[in-house]
Amino acid sequence: MGVDLFARCRDYEVARAARAAGVYPYYQAFSGPCGATAVLDGRTVIMCGSSDYLGLAADPRVIRAAQDAAAAYGTSRAGSRMLNGGTPLHAELERELAAYAGMPDALLFPTGYQANVGTIAGLTGRRDAVLVDAEAHASAYDGAALGPGRAARFRHNSPAALDRLLAAQSGDAARLVVVDGLYSMSGESCPLPSMITTCRRYGARLLVDDAHGFGVRALDVDGVDLLTVTFSKALASVGGAVLGPPEVIDYLRHHARAEIYSAVAPPSSVAAALAALRIAAAEPWRGARAVAAAAALRAALISMGHAVPPGTGPIVSLPMPDLPATLAAWHGLLAAGVYVNPVVPPAARCSLRITTTAAHTDAHLATVVAALAALS
Ligand SMILES: Cc1ncc(COP(=O)(O)O)c(C=O)c1O
Repeated sequence: MGVDLFARCRDYEVARAARAAGVYPYYQAFSGPCGATAVLDGRTVIMCGSSDYLGLAADPRVIRAAQDAAAAYGTSRAGSRMLNGGTPLHAELERELAAYAGMPDALLFPTGYQANVGTIAGLTGRRDAVLVDAEAHASAYDGAALGPGRAARFRHNSPAALDRLLAAQSGDAARLVVVDGLYSMSGESCPLPSMITTCRRYGARLLVDDAHGFGVRALDVDGVDLLTVTFSKALASVGGAVLGPPEVIDYLRHHARAEIYSAVAPPSSVAAALAALRIAAAEPWRGARAVAAAAALRAALISMGHAVPPGTGPIVSLPMPDLPATLAAWHGLLAAGVYVNPVVPPAARCSLRITTTAAHTDAHLATVVAALAALS
């Protein structure tokens, strides 16, 4: 008899211990929509964990678009886009995403995760190298691991470290560099102009995963070869896309397994993302408001004596010393009516991830600052 595969599950204590201590923070079930506030266990809490940066997940225009699409096209295409097709909405969203971002063409994926996995694994060959920023999203690493090429990581936000790694690659390897436009856990921005210069020096292609910046702030894409985006944040939906040159998009249409072998995004999700994209373009104050709220929160935390990473987006990271302190702080904030994300390894170093949206009022933010002050 061999070892029982399930033994590791029986031995897995971390979640059980947190539940027993009453501080297990994950897989909550909320009532009602996700907005500036949300209802958890019958209590209204200020929602500072979602990535609904533009405050559109409960917007009546977005909800109506999703309802209309479900009525017109049904709830599912019941298959892959390659075999069973999408709808005119799918192609319309691809055209509008490309135009909004200033990229030539786009291909939808069922999720943002799949956009990264499918693009990175689908594009790279056996001799190629995928060089990923140390704090890039897990989907970039999973794409690099799944593809046939060699994966390597370089020091977070360090063009010098990237330069050394590029220089160490053999001459016959094509190189793909992957960074996030805005880092999801720390809230830091990528130093894009220096990364572009470094990539150009070696003829490497640069993929920017702009999951958290897309729709919130403008990105100068001059020098960006590929852009991946997700609809699960500013665009108030679920789905993702890769944006790039038409010949690359067409190649991925026929080589990105995460797209080809997975069901096409439902029309309601595509219609919601399309409606949200149009609102993002017409109402740029939304992104600006979320970013300004985060800046104010960062300033308040710094004035309390916290060492908060610099950021330019709607994500504020409050470093925590260890796992128990992270869970205790999360629990304390929740008791004060503020819901944030506890971040623990392996996702990233221990911290609280606090997000702001266009829907948060000054009164919400004052409550959040008071709750954070009460922690310290
Ligand atoms: C930087 C980044 N890229 C990709 C993804 C995956 O996007 P999705 O949730 O749409 O699959 C996320 C999700 O959290 C993310 O933070």
